Amino acid sequence: MNYQIQSFAEYEEIYKYSIENPEAFWAEVAGHFQWQKPWDTVLNWNFKDPNIKWFEGGKLNITENCLDRHLESLGNKTALIWEPNDPNEPSRNLTYKQLHTEVCRFANVLKNNGAKKGDRICIYMPMVLELAIAVLACARIGAIHSVVFGGFSAQSISDRIQDAQCNMVITSDGAFRGAKQIPLKPIIDEALKTCPSVDKVIVLARTKSAVNMTADRDVWWHNEIAKVNSNCPAEITDAEDLLFILYTSGSTGKPKGVVHTCGGYMVYAGYTFSNVFQYQPDEIFFCTADIGWVTGHSYIIYGPLANGATSLMFEGVPNFPDAGRLWDIVGKHQVNILYTAPTAIRSLMQAGHHYVENKNLSSLTKLGSVGEPINEEAWHWYQDNIGHKDCPIADTWWQTETGGIMISPIAGITPTKPCYAMLPLPGIQPVLVDEKGEEILGNDVSGNLCIKFPWPGILRTTYGDHERCRTNYFAAYPNLYFTGDGCLRDADGHYRITGRVDDVLNVSGHRIGTAEVENAIDMHHGLVETAVVGYPHDIKGQGIYAYAICLEPPEDENKLRAEILAIVTKEIGAFAKPDKIQFVNGLPKTRSGKIMRRILRKIAEGEFENIGDVTTLLDPAVVEEIKAGRLDR
Ligand code: PRX
Repeated sequence: MNYQIQSFAEYEEIYKYSIENPEAFWAEVAGHFQWQKPWDTVLNWNFKDPNIKWFEGGKLNITENCLDRHLESLGNKTALIWEPNDPNEPSRNLTYKQLHTEVCRFANVLKNNGAKKGDRICIYMPMVLELAIAVLACARIGAIHSVVFGGFSAQSISDRIQDAQCNMVITSDGAFRGAKQIPLKPIIDEALKTCPSVDKVIVLARTKSAVNMTADRDVWWHNEIAKVNSNCPAEITDAEDLLFILYTSGSTGKPKGVVHTCGGYMVYAGYTFSNVFQYQPDEIFFCTADIGWVTGHSYIIYGPLANGATSLMFEGVPNFPDAGRLWDIVGKHQVNILYTAPTAIRSLMQAGHHYVENKNLSSLTKLGSVGEPINEEAWHWYQDNIGHKDCPIADTWWQTETGGIMISPIAGITPTKPCYAMLPLPGIQPVLVDEKGEEILGNDVSGNLCIKFPWPGILRTTYGDHERCRTNYFAAYPNLYFTGDGCLRDADGHYRITGRVDDVLNVSGHRIGTAEVENAIDMHHGLVETAVVGYPHDIKGQGIYAYAICLEPPEDENKLRAEILAIVTKEIGAFAKPDKIQFVNGLPKTRSGKIMRRILRKIAEGEFENIGDVTTLLDPAVVEEIKAGRLDR
C-alpha cells in the first residue's frame, strides 16, 4: 500500500480496504513512523464509555518523528519559514537541524525550570518561531501543552489554566498584529492572580515593551536559553500518553479541554497532511491558521514536520498592511500549497480585485479551505483568482476533536465540487442519522453527521471530566461519535457540511458557544436574561445576535451596548463580541421555560414568514414585539 494515494482508483481501493480491515490499514500507516517500541495492540475501543486506545504498548516521541529522523537526509532542508507581521522586518528560516537544536535547547530550559513529563504547560504567544519551538519542546520532554489563542482574555486564560492545573506558562511581552501592538504579559499577569498552580512563567521578548517581572516566578526566554546546551534526548512516551489539551467551545457554558494523545494523533495528523495536500518533497506549505487553534497544531506544526515538509508560519493578519498581504507572501516565498479559511477568502475577495492583480501566484499548485462552510461565490473566486483556475481546492471538514482532516478531496486525486467536502478519507466511516438516531441510508439525503468507527486522531477524553466527553459526543446516538454538524449526502454520495445543529456558533471560523456568550453578557448587573443566536454574515460566515432583557428600560441603549461588549471582551475575548444587541421585554419560551432559539434565529435572519407555530409559547405576544424591534443593520 502506498502511504500517499496516487490515483482515484487507488483511493477507492484503499478506502474499501480501510473499512474492511481498519486495524491492518492503520497498522500499515503507523509503520511509516518511527517507534521506539512497536505497539502490542492496534486498537481497543468502545464508544459507550467511551474508551479508545490506539497502538497500545507502543513507545515513541513525536519530536523524534518530526525532527530527529529527518536530520540525516533533510537536515539542511528548511523546516519552518517565518514571515513577520511587518513586511519590512526580515523573514527567518529554520532548517530541520536548526529547529532540532532550538527545540532541544528550549526543552532543557523547561527542565531547568522544573518542568517534567506529564506537567501541563500553558502557551500564550504570538505567531513567532518560538511558539512552534515551545510546543515541540513540551512534546520533547513529555509535558502536555495547552496552547491558548492570543485573542483570549485574562479570564479565559485563567479558566483554562485552572482546569488543566498548569504549573508553567510560556508567553511573550507582547504581540504585533496588523497595526496594533497587543500586550500579552500583562494579560497573563492578570490571569495568574487566580491561578495558584502556576509557579513559573517564561517570557519571550518580542515587542520589547515594558513588562513587570515577578521575582521567583518570571524569567526571560533569552536569559534561560543562554544557560543550556542543545543536548536533550527525547523523553519516551507511551502511545496513549497525553500530547496536548486544546480548549474548544461546546453547547454548554464552559469550554472543554479536548485531549489528544501521542501515537494516534501523530499518525493521523501525518497521514492526512501527506495525502490531502499531496505534499511533494520540495513544496512550500502555507497554512494561515493560528497555532492557538487545532488547524495550526496539526497543519503548521505536527503534520508537515512529521513529513519532512517546509511549513510557513505568518505572524500577522491577511489585511495588513493591505488586503494583498497573503498574495505577497505567496509570491515572496514561492508558496505551493495554500491552506486558509473561508472568512479570509471572503474578506479579501470583498477588498477588491486590485489587491490580487499583478501578484505572482504562479507557484501555487493546490489550495485548501478549512473551518467553516465555504459559499459558492468564495469557492469560485478562490479557484479563479488565487488558484489561476487550475489548482484543486481541498475543502477540508474536521474538528478540534477529530485531530485531523476527516472528509475532504485529496488534492488533484479525488473530485471536487464547490461547497462540498466530498468524500471521507481512508479509515473514516461517516453516517447520517435522523432525530431518533436511525441511520439514513442511500443518497440524496441529509441528517446529523456521526462517525461510526474510531480513527487514530479521535479525542480520547475531555480533560478532567470524562463524563462530559461521553455526554457531549457519545450519548446522543448509541455507539456513534456525534459531530454536532448537519450534513447532506447528494445523489453522487458526496458530502456537504451544512453547519452546526447544536448551540455552537462559527464566527470567522472561531467556534463560540451561545451559552458562553450569554453567561458573559448576563454578568452585567442591569440585565435579567439574554439569548444569543447566530445569523448569516457576509464575511464572518455567522454573526452574533444577542437579545437581552433589561432590569429597567435603559436610558442610553448605546452606552449599555458598549458596556456589554466590554464585558464579553473581558470574559472571553474581542472575537466573541455580538454584532447586534436588541433589547427586549421578553423572550419566546415554552411553557417549561426553554428558550425557543429557532424563533430567535428566524427573526435575526429576517425570515418572519417561516417562524412556525408560536401558539405553544408561554407568551406568544413577545414574538411580535421582537420582530418589530429587529435590528437589520
Ligand atoms: O461546524 C464545523 C466547522 O467547524 C467546526 C469545528 O470547529 P473547530 O473545532 O474549531 O475546528 C476548526 C478547524 C478544523 C465543525 O464542527 N467546519 C470545519 N471545517 C469545515 C466546517 N464546516 C464546513 N466545511 C468545512 N470544511
